[in-house]
Amino acid sequence: MTSTAKTTEHGLSKFHRLLVDQVRHEFTAAQQYIALAAWFDDRDLPQLARVFYRQSLEERDHAMMIVRFLLDSDVPVTIPQTDEIKNDFAEPRDLVALALRQEREVTEQFHLLAKAAREEADYTGEQFLQWFLKEQTEEVAKMSTLLAVVDRSDGNFFDVETFVARDMPDESGDPTAPETAGPSVS
Ligand SMILES: [Fe+2]
Ligand SMILES: [Fe+2]
Repeated sequence: MTSTAKTTEHGLSKFHRLLVDQVRHEFTAAQQYIALAAWFDDRDLPQLARVFYRQSLEERDHAMMIVRFLLDSDVPVTIPQTDEIKNDFAEPRDLVALALRQEREVTEQFHLLAKAAREEADYTGEQFLQWFLKEQTEEVAKMSTLLAVVDRSDGNFFDVETFVARDMPDESGDPTAPETAGPSVS
């Protein structure tokens, strides 16, 4: 595969450095969502658990899409540890609020990536990011809807479960998604 002009023997471009960091952010998101899923699972809220187990797999896919891209761009790949995972929560709302916060942070990370790619005239990089930018809009919207439903339910999580069962099905097969390194969930 060809190297981009921006990563040379002198080191990685800023865009590639941010992309290497993004692998860690996506694995952290994957691991954090397992923690949320297990918390809901343990409290007999299977629909919320399902949504977050599934979301975890999608975050793993995001990491593996970036790994695929780095491999194809001849950027050295190391698989990182994740950042710290939060497991202690006072109430169910806190988990959904954390998920929304996390999605907003990841969106900000992709905006920084897009800025770096543009500054460095990395057109291939810019194109690669387009799917992630769209995906982030969807994920922020999804978590923000879920938080609104939680707030409206006034502590009745069985109402939230009914909403989630009806309106948050597992989605599969996005043909426009970038290829992962190895198998993917969708
Ligand atoms: Fe992600
Ligand atoms: Fe996400």
